[in-house]
Amino acid sequence: MNPIHTHSALKLARRLRRLRASENIRAMVRETRLAPEMFMLPLFVCEGQGVRREVPSMPGVCNLSVDEAVKEVEHAKADGVSSVILFGLPDQKDDIGSSAYDPEAPVQSAVRAIKRAVPDVVVATDVCLCEYTDHGHCGIVIDNEISNDPTVEQLVRAAVSHAAAGADIVAPSDMMDGRVGAIRSALDERGFERTAIMAYAAKYCSAFYGPFRDAAASAPAFGDRRSHQMDPANAAEALREVEQDIAEGADIVMVKPAVTYLDVITRVKQTFNYPTAAYHVSGEYAMLKAAARNGWIDERRAMIETLTAIHRAGADIILTYYAREAARALA
Ligand code: PBG
Repeated sequence: MNPIHTHSALKLARRLRRLRASENIRAMVRETRLAPEMFMLPLFVCEGQGVRREVPSMPGVCNLSVDEAVKEVEHAKADGVSSVILFGLPDQKDDIGSSAYDPEAPVQSAVRAIKRAVPDVVVATDVCLCEYTDHGHCGIVIDNEISNDPTVEQLVRAAVSHAAAGADIVAPSDMMDGRVGAIRSALDERGFERTAIMAYAAKYCSAFYGPFRDAAASAPAFGDRRSHQMDPANAAEALREVEQDIAEGADIVMVKPAVTYLDVITRVKQTFNYPTAAYHVSGEYAMLKAAARNGWIDERRAMIETLTAIHRAGADIILTYYAREAARALA
């Protein structure tokens, strides 16, 4: 006989399971809470009218013409999402990415249309040349190298044109040195001192951007992005990148990708205690979608667990293709 003791046999001062006994008690001691205002929804804006083209590797994510982008923002707002970040898919590309600062290009047109239709939604714009160059690189290529300072001049033109269209936030994602300071002073000189800068400060050279490059047709035609994006092995260097961008005038600093760099998010938040964003990137989204479609994971739980982890690590803002689904799940 193996008697089961109904009274306490163990003398335990602490039993951590007490606070896990019911949903109400768990909710009472919960340390991390997601809220829809922290989600920023990325949108890919293309030319044309009535265009809504799903990206094969990103179920639920579409290339949208300006009119459809406005509808998407209205729906996102109804779900509780209050900020978006725009990427452009121009028809015209050249070797210096000049459509990045065309006032009639998709991003600039979408900013104006969105601010007109839903003025209280925060509109950020991605500032980079990779979607605008025919070679798919993030900058001007001279002698097979991405030349830093001429690229910064182009980025400044793009950022100013986004601000002129009415963007609330410009977000340089190129990883050139000195671009935040150059953009800040150009914005200020032209009277856009209220336009904020969200710097992709610690952006790693990651395999998880694959589906985005399908969505934005921005894969480099030759070579890779290792000469400007960070080596995934480095964390101390991320703090130097963030420190530099703050010194140059960044209002928000970003770590990207998110899940494989949770330690970096934590260190950035703890070191600088600055508004910190994390980008849950296309490959991270695609992995969850693929597993869910195969019936291998419970998508809703996996989504909330992932976003909770990013927030728990220290991110105040989460850029995610799940923004609308997650906002609805929290409602
Ligand atoms: C560059 C940019 C990229 C992403 C955001 N901005 C692609 C890259 O660096 O190659 C990736 C976002 C994602 O994968 O979801 N404009």
